[in-house]
Amino acid sequence: MKTKEDFIERVLYTEEEIATRVKEISAQISEDYKDIEKPLLTVGILNGAVMFYTDLVRRVSIPVHFDFMIASSYDANTHTSGKVNILKNLDNDPKGRDILLVEDIVDSGTTMNYLVEYFKDKGANSVKVCALLNKPSRRKIDVDVDYCGFEVPDEFIVGYGLDFAQHYRNLPYLGILKRSVYSK
Ligand code: IMP
Ligand code: MG
Repeated sequence: MKTKEDFIERVLYTEEEIATRVKEISAQISEDYKDIEKPLLTVGILNGAVMFYTDLVRRVSIPVHFDFMIASSYDANTHTSGKVNILKNLDNDPKGRDILLVEDIVDSGTTMNYLVEYFKDKGANSVKVCALLNKPSRRKIDVDVDYCGFEVPDEFIVGYGLDFAQHYRNLPYLGILKRSVYSK
């Protein structure tokens, strides 16, 4: 039987490299939000951001509240559809809150641009984006990535939560998917 590793072209970031970077971002977030009045509303974008989210928030030293959304601009393949659907919304009222959107990867920018504007419209006190990965070469819509783990090349990346058609999310590292997997 094939293992998950048979589909990986090469490892981009190891478990250890990810952990080191995530700790740095958590420290920066703790510092930047140390004076806010209500707990920081950390919003994980399901499913891809789950691993990043849990590792990140456990290292944040200021009070946080958990919330999650499902938003999709993506088809099952590697082509973005350009339209954003909110399939699961927040449980908290965003009005007056400081919101930190925690996302796996900003690619075309469609999803994050939409969600930032959406929460500003809903009266959030502030909205920032924290993305594990940023692929600026693919940007179609401008979006500020306030906290970024790593800038990555224009390759399809899986692992540490990121999938290809729901596969490979549980790889503990970030790797480039072999092109043969999706160009068949
Ligand atoms: P955007 O709206 O085009 O920025 O798309 C963001 C979403 O596309 C991410 O949350 C991922 O679900 C998906 N995505 C984009 N690039 C990759 C990749 O290289 N690997 C896995 N998922 C990706
Ligand atoms: Mg996603």
